[in-house]
Amino acid sequence: MNQAFQEFYKNNNFLQSVLETAIDAIIIINQSGIIVILNKSAATLFGYTQEELIGRNINILTPEPHRSSHDQYIENHLKTGVNKIIGIGREVEGVRKDGKKFPVRLAVSKFVTDNQIYFTGVIHDLTLQKEVENKLWYLNKNLENLVDSRTGQLQESIQQLSAINTHLENEITYRLSVETKLKSKEQELLTALEKERDLSILKSRFVSIASHEFRTPLANILSSINLIDKYEDIESVEKRKKHILKIKNNIHYLNGVLNEFLVLTRIEESRFEIKMERFSLFHLLHDILEDFNQIKKPGQKLSFICNDPEHSEIYSDKTCLRHIMNNLISNAIKFSDEYSIITVQLNQDGSNYILKIIDTGIGIPEEEQKFIFDIFYRASNVLNIAGTGLGLNIVKKYLDAIQGKIQFESKEGKGTQITITLPGNEYKK
Ligand SMILES: Nc1ncnc2c1ncn2[C@@H]1O[C@H](COP(=O)(O)OP(=O)(O)OP(=O)(O)O)[C@@H](O)[C@H]1O
Ligand SMILES: [Mg+2]
Repeated sequence: MNQAFQEFYKNNNFLQSVLETAIDAIIIINQSGIIVILNKSAATLFGYTQEELIGRNINILTPEPHRSSHDQYIENHLKTGVNKIIGIGREVEGVRKDGKKFPVRLAVSKFVTDNQIYFTGVIHDLTLQKEVENKLWYLNKNLENLVDSRTGQLQESIQQLSAINTHLENEITYRLSVETKLKSKEQELLTALEKERDLSILKSRFVSIASHEFRTPLANILSSINLIDKYEDIESVEKRKKHILKIKNNIHYLNGVLNEFLVLTRIEESRFEIKMERFSLFHLLHDILEDFNQIKKPGQKLSFICNDPEHSEIYSDKTCLRHIMNNLISNAIKFSDEYSIITVQLNQDGSNYILKIIDTGIGIPEEEQKFIFDIFYRASNVLNIAGTGLGLNIVKKYLDAIQGKIQFESKEGKGTQITITLPGNEYKK
C-alpha cells in the first residue's frame, strides 16, 4: 500500500512542489508510524537524507521517553479516536541524527486514502526562537536583578535622605524656637531699655522743671510768710487770711506737680495696678467739681449736666478716673479766663459713657494739637501759665489702662472741648 501511495506522490507534481517548497519539515507516516514521504526540509532538519528516513519508524526522530511510546500513541488514537495532538499542535522535542535534541512546533493532521490511514506532520524548528527567548529571559532576569539592586540602593538613599531631612527639620524647629526666644528676649530688653530711657528723661526733666516750677510758688510762699509776719494787729486778720490762702494754693500746686511725677514714675516702672469697682460716675464727678469750686478762678462757673444721674453706674478704676478728671478740669480752669463757664457733661451712649469737658479758654494752636499728649509738651500760647506738660500724658496712660478713649476739638482763642469715652462694663453689674 505504501508503495502505491509513494507512486501516487511521485506522479503528483503539484503535491511534490508544495512539499519540496515548504521551509518547514513535512513528514507523512502511515498508521504503523513508518515514514512514507518527507520533504527535503525535514531531512535537513533532522540531519538525514530523504532516502535514509523513508521506511523508518518516526520514533527515530523522537527522543526518549516519547520514542518508545510513539507507536503506542498512534495505537491509542486509532482505538479511542481521542485527539491529543491532531489539529491541536504543540511544542515537542525532536532528535537529530547526531543525537542532539532540539525544540520544534508540531502540527499533525490525519487523512485516509485507499482505506489506509496516514498522518501528516508539519514540524517547525524552534531552536532559534528558543535561543532568542532564552536570551530574552536572561536579559530580562538580569534587568530585574539590576532593577532590584538599584531599587534597594535607591531605598537606602531615600532612607538616608529622609533621616537627614528629619534631622534638618528638627534642627530648623530648634533654631526657630531659639530665634523666637531670642526675639522675645530682644523685645523685652528693648522695652526695658525704652522704659529706662523714659525714666531717666523723666528724672532729668524733673530736676530742671522742679528748679524752674518750684521757684515761683516757693518765692510766693516766702513773700506771703514775710507779709504775715508784718500784719500783727487785729485789723490785718483779713490780709493774713488772704496770704495764708495764697500759701495753701502754692503748696497745693507744688504738691500737684510732685504727685504727677510720682504717678508717672509709678506707671513707667509698672508699679501701677488697676482696681476695678462699681460706683456712680455722677457722684464721683459731683465730688470732684465741688473740690474745684474751692480753687477755680474768681467768677468762673462750673456747670455739670447729667441726663440720668440715677443710672450712671460704672465698673472701672475710681482713682484713675479721679486723676483723669482732675487733670482735665484743672486744665479747663487754668487755660480759661476769670468769669468764664466750664461745662462738664455726662451722657450714656449704649453701654458707653461719654464725658465732655468744655471751656471757652485760650484753645490750642491747630499746628500744635498733635503734640499735646507728648510728655512735657506745652503749647506756645501757655508758656506764661504754670504747668509741666505731664497732665495729658498721664491722662492718656490712665485711659489706656481702663480702656477709655480721648478726643478733642479746640480753636485758638475760642475754647476747647475734650471728649472721653468710657466702657460701662455692663456685664460686670
Ligand atoms: N483746656 C485746654 N485749653 C487750652 N490748652 C490746653 C487745654 N488742655 C491742654 N492744653 C494744652 O496742652 C498742653 C498739655 O497739657 P498738660 O495738661 O499735659 O500740661 P499742663 O497743664 O501745661 O501741665 P500739667 O498738667 O503737667 O500741670 C498744655 O500745656 C496746653 O498747651
Ligand atoms: Mg494739665
